Amino acid sequence: MAKKKSILDFHRMKKEGEQVAWITAYDFPTASFGEAAGMDMLLVGDSLGMCTLGYHSTVPVTMEDCISHCQAVRRGAPNTWIIGDMPFMSYQSSDVKAVENAGRFLKEADTDCIKLEGGVRVAERIRSITDAGILVMGHIGLTPQSSGLLGGHKAQGRDVDNARLVIKDALSVEQAGAYAILVEAVPPEVTAFIAHKLKIPVYSIGAGPCDGQLLISADLLGQFQSFTPKFVKKYADLAGVSIKAFEDYIKDVKEGVFPSGEHVYNILDPIEKFEALFKEFA
Ligand code: KIV
Repeated sequence: MAKKKSILDFHRMKKEGEQVAWITAYDFPTASFGEAAGMDMLLVGDSLGMCTLGYHSTVPVTMEDCISHCQAVRRGAPNTWIIGDMPFMSYQSSDVKAVENAGRFLKEADTDCIKLEGGVRVAERIRSITDAGILVMGHIGLTPQSSGLLGGHKAQGRDVDNARLVIKDALSVEQAGAYAILVEAVPPEVTAFIAHKLKIPVYSIGAGPCDGQLLISADLLGQFQSFTPKFVKKYADLAGVSIKAFEDYIKDVKEGVFPSGEHVYNILDPIEKFEALFKEFA
């Protein structure tokens, strides 16, 4: 079994140019498959709201949802670096609330760190949480929890004025003490500049090459059906495979093909004895 990675490994990997491969995981099976495959880390993203709970956005996701999914993921991947994602309104209103909720991820779900969205405007929160001894991963560019402010789920940093804001966000997240940063839906030129400028690891989801890549597991596996962002590469069609398996099962049940002899428990006494038993109740 590979040794569980630490922050030192992630900083070394950046220095040596070794890519970090990671996905989101929301449940025990995905986490255990991720660990078995050798994922460098797992994010229990608040995207669980859409990918597992059927919400239209991440906004309704609660601390309780996140903690419970992080616990399942930790049980499935005891030996993998796990990032707990702070849900909407768990850190926005005050430093105290942010620190208390960040602490819950570590105390109740044994995550290794937390992630929160925003740059300049959340720098104080990042500072407070790191001052409490908790590792923070920043998340800039397209930040789904505040997509209203961005005019929707739109790529960021595509013109020079907007790229300046993204770069300022990156610098303030690093200055505030984050150990790593995730950049979402930003052109590769801007991401490459940020990855070069920052000492901390810079990871991408839809932001081109840098120190590592994240994909949403439900996108990668072809489970999530509502929409597929441009940056997703599908490696499987689990939706298709699942629907086909369910259809085959329905057909077998309707046609009496399932269950067959191999799927039942055999009696331990001679059949005559059972026939006598049934007669008692006839
Ligand atoms: O919740 C999540 O999975 C995320 C990704 C969109 C980066 O934060």
